Amino acid sequence: MKRIGVLISGRGSNLQALIDAQRSGRLGGEIVVVISNVETAFGLTRARLTSIPGVFRDHRGKKREDYDSELIAILNEHAVDLICLAGYMRLLSSRFIQAFAGRILNIHPALLPAFPGLDAQRQAVEHGVKVSGATVHLVDENLDAGPIILQEAVPVLDTDDAEALAHRILDIEHQIYPRAVELWLSGRCRIEGRRVIVEKDQA
Ligand code: GRF
Repeated sequence: MKRIGVLISGRGSNLQALIDAQRSGRLGGEIVVVISNVETAFGLTRARLTSIPGVFRDHRGKKREDYDSELIAILNEHAVDLICLAGYMRLLSSRFIQAFAGRILNIHPALLPAFPGLDAQRQAVEHGVKVSGATVHLVDENLDAGPIILQEAVPVLDTDDAEALAHRILDIEHQIYPRAVELWLSGRCRIEGRRVIVEKDQA
């Protein structure tokens, strides 16, 4: 079974979606550690309620590279094969990204490459797009820019504010993140340039 580490900073609803998928055998891996840079993150409680080690590591007062080295050490202690960012609100250093090259996934609440960065749902509403959505992608050295594994669209309604759109997108996030993890861990994906190509089942 592939071993998964999840990094969070907050409520952890995507973490919960991954936990639920694992419980019902849909994740293709096992979450072995959850790390948060915020002590009060509800995601840590979710982890501990499921008997997954939930580790708090404070980033304050530390250089990014030093902090990330601590994370690398914890993830290596748990021998993780894959790292899922799930609302982890810090930029990762090159050291971290190189340590786990091709093994870090992120979920973003927009159809990348539209609206990278913070507050993607507000950006979408303010820009006036009619469709937005969620993206699961590999993490590389550029922000919200690595090869895309899965995307799904949702309509943006005239009555939406950022919060209403965020709610609709979150439902989709919870569906596609576990599917993308399973797909990536299954070994059926290969990367061609920027494209993630899924091999057809050989039935
Ligand atoms: C989600 O919208 C995710 O796309 C973004 O941060 C939010 C995290 O929410 N990266 P949660 O902590 O998983 O509930």
